[in-house]
Amino acid sequence: MSDSVSKQMNVDTDIITLSRFIIQEQQKHQEATGELSLLLNALQFAFKFIAHNIRRAELINLIGVSGTANSTGDVQKKLDVIGDEIFINAMKSSGQVKILVSEEQEDLIVFEGGGKYAVCTDPIDGSSNIDAGVSVGTIFGIYKLQQDSNGSIKDVLRPGTEMIAAGYTMYGASAHLVLTTGNGVDGFTLDAQLGEFILTQPNLRIPEFRSIYSMNEGNSLYWPEYVKDYIKDLKELQSNGKPYSARYVGSMVADIHRTLLYGGIFAYPADSKSKNGKLRVLYECFPMAMLMEQAGGLAVNDKGERILEKVPKGIHDKSGIWLGSKGEIEKFKSYIK
Ligand code: AHG
Ligand code: MN
Ligand code: MN
Repeated sequence: MSDSVSKQMNVDTDIITLSRFIIQEQQKHQEATGELSLLLNALQFAFKFIAHNIRRAELINLIGVSGTANSTGDVQKKLDVIGDEIFINAMKSSGQVKILVSEEQEDLIVFEGGGKYAVCTDPIDGSSNIDAGVSVGTIFGIYKLQQDSNGSIKDVLRPGTEMIAAGYTMYGASAHLVLTTGNGVDGFTLDAQLGEFILTQPNLRIPEFRSIYSMNEGNSLYWPEYVKDYIKDLKELQSNGKPYSARYVGSMVADIHRTLLYGGIFAYPADSKSKNGKLRVLYECFPMAMLMEQAGGLAVNDKGERILEKVPKGIHDKSGIWLGSKGEIEKFKSYIK
């Protein structure tokens, strides 16, 4: 089709798919073996398959309301379990993954074969939102096995700065994949009819300031005083003559997606008594922190320390976390005593 015809018909005939993007990125690195590309390819299949199941589940639930579904009495497998199984199978069959940490598995999984990567995942994040049709997602972080390692827990009990890639896919009206391989952040949108993720947001940068805060304020009873002071001040009139806006979906992926695009701050502080956070270091905090930093934002713990430099002691360790626009995180840090 000549240029003018495709323009007349408003058809972009030269779109960048995720597969094309992965190959282009690989070609930039002469030393690349193609193994990470194969792994990313297996990941995108897992995301498409999970997206497909979420779309179907919504429909099945809707049919259920009218009383015609589940007539056989079959209990639908919960999406947390389906997502986990899809993820495990995709990683196993890629031949590139040696170690898998999943929120849904108590122990880490060690695959047979010679894979060189360790993947940490929250297969379905925000699952309490799923029956209401609110966005949920899959979060992942990738490490390369340490030199001479045959794959052990030591390959994932490492600081987040050693991850080589991270991202999430948010399943909503369409699926959005946000990815970093340590060279900025790129956003892709799934064209479900084409079956391809299309590059829609190249080189995403988070705005430096935005008066939006995103936290479960129902927990304020458990917050330390400096957090209460900080939030109280956000509700005062700011220099623009307005207080901050509150936005909280309750799915970390959706709250982080909005924060990346619009700016602002997302936080889940630890309980001041037990000192326990809710969000898990390896498959929630680290991947989102890497994305934020790569997009020009910041990610810190309740003490204001860079979260990516922390070393987890267990695969399901939790942490308090604050992440978002650089200016907003710096403002929060000024409240820490
Ligand atoms: P998950 O569904 O993987 O267990 O994660 C839920 C997390 C996260 O998505 C969200 O930010 C947070 O829990 C919400 O917690 P609250 O309901 O306590 O606000
Ligand atoms: Mn989660
Ligand atoms: Mn989950």
